[in-house]
Amino acid sequence: MELQNDLLIRAAKGEKVERTPVWLMRQAGRILPEYRAVRNKLSGFIELAQTPELAAEVTIQPVDILGVDAAIIFSDILVIPEAMGLPYEMVEKKGPRFPKTISTDEDLKALKKADAKSDLGYVLEAIKITKKELNGRVPLIGFAGAPWTIFCYMVEGHGSKTFSKARRMLYNDPLMADQLLKLITDSTIEYLKAQIEAGADLVQVFDSWAGILGPEQYQRFSMKYIAEICDAITEVPVTVFSKGAYFARSEMRHLNCETIGLDWNMDIQSSRRLIGENKTLQGNLDPCALYAPDIEIEKATKKMLDEFGTGRHIANLGHGVYPDIDPNKVKVFINTVKEYSAKLRSAEI
Ligand code: CP3
Repeated sequence: MELQNDLLIRAAKGEKVERTPVWLMRQAGRILPEYRAVRNKLSGFIELAQTPELAAEVTIQPVDILGVDAAIIFSDILVIPEAMGLPYEMVEKKGPRFPKTISTDEDLKALKKADAKSDLGYVLEAIKITKKELNGRVPLIGFAGAPWTIFCYMVEGHGSKTFSKARRMLYNDPLMADQLLKLITDSTIEYLKAQIEAGADLVQVFDSWAGILGPEQYQRFSMKYIAEICDAITEVPVTVFSKGAYFARSEMRHLNCETIGLDWNMDIQSSRRLIGENKTLQGNLDPCALYAPDIEIEKATKKMLDEFGTGRHIANLGHGVYPDIDPNKVKVFINTVKEYSAKLRSAEI
């Protein structure tokens, strides 16, 4: 299926684009009343994610309603632990909880490598339906959590400010940590490949808890496994988003991926200098900027676009959109990117 709007893919590959493509992390769900209407008919998030027709419907909602240049499949990074034998629950207003966690060798031995086709068939089916219904309008992004971020949830059992249980294992039993990280990595590679086979046009790896490690541990326990994933995925462009890992930017230039995501703490010019010209940069407006009056959102968005210039860039926020943001504010951001980035390019000729 030929894509009618392939701006995202061309920008990821470093090809020329007429304007900067734009999408939002966590665009599917949460902010849209249309999403809540679908979700409220079911028992909750997990049932929705496991019902392919409905997952496809909410994946496409932001394309229709917000006008983004890509869809991202509606699922969660925590489907991987579940497929490895560690199920999760989604507690209303609190987030994910794992009734069982990994702390001993026995816990580790009870896990298995996820079998994408049999354990995660519902995600693959949702991707196939979404591709069919998108009918080439925009590309579809597949995703997974980075091994380190998944490890955090599997050891800690829930979100945390410090993830001290997860980080404790790096000091007390680094070999066990490596075994778990390796099993997650192998599961993730197979899962991303299955998503691509089902139709994903680009994949993103989310390392949401990158920023809680120091530079050496980040290299040793996270980047190493992300690099394995990047080396294994050769079929489509890969984006790596390591939130908070400003200290690892110069190492990221060596990753075998097309795009590096920036959060809003990462200065654009120094990021470009550290990461180099051979990668596309994605991001990085502060999600909180979308609480501002429209005129301020326009100003902040234009400033961001001026700083990225007309080089390799995919516009996004510096992290997922916050659930209480007004969708109309999101539209101001998206429309400003579309109009102003086209203007910047036509001024170049
Ligand atoms: O639009 C999209 O980006 C696609 C779907 C998507 C979800 N989660 C759906 C979801 C994606 C890409 C994710 C990634 C994810 N999940 C990350 C990495 C990105 C990031 O934000 O750092 C992480 C850390 C998780 C784990 C997770 N899932 C948490 C902490 C929570 C609870 C808090 C929250 O974000 O709402 C979830 C639940 C979740 N995942 C929801 C959605 C739409 C909300 C569930 C609901 O109430 O409907």
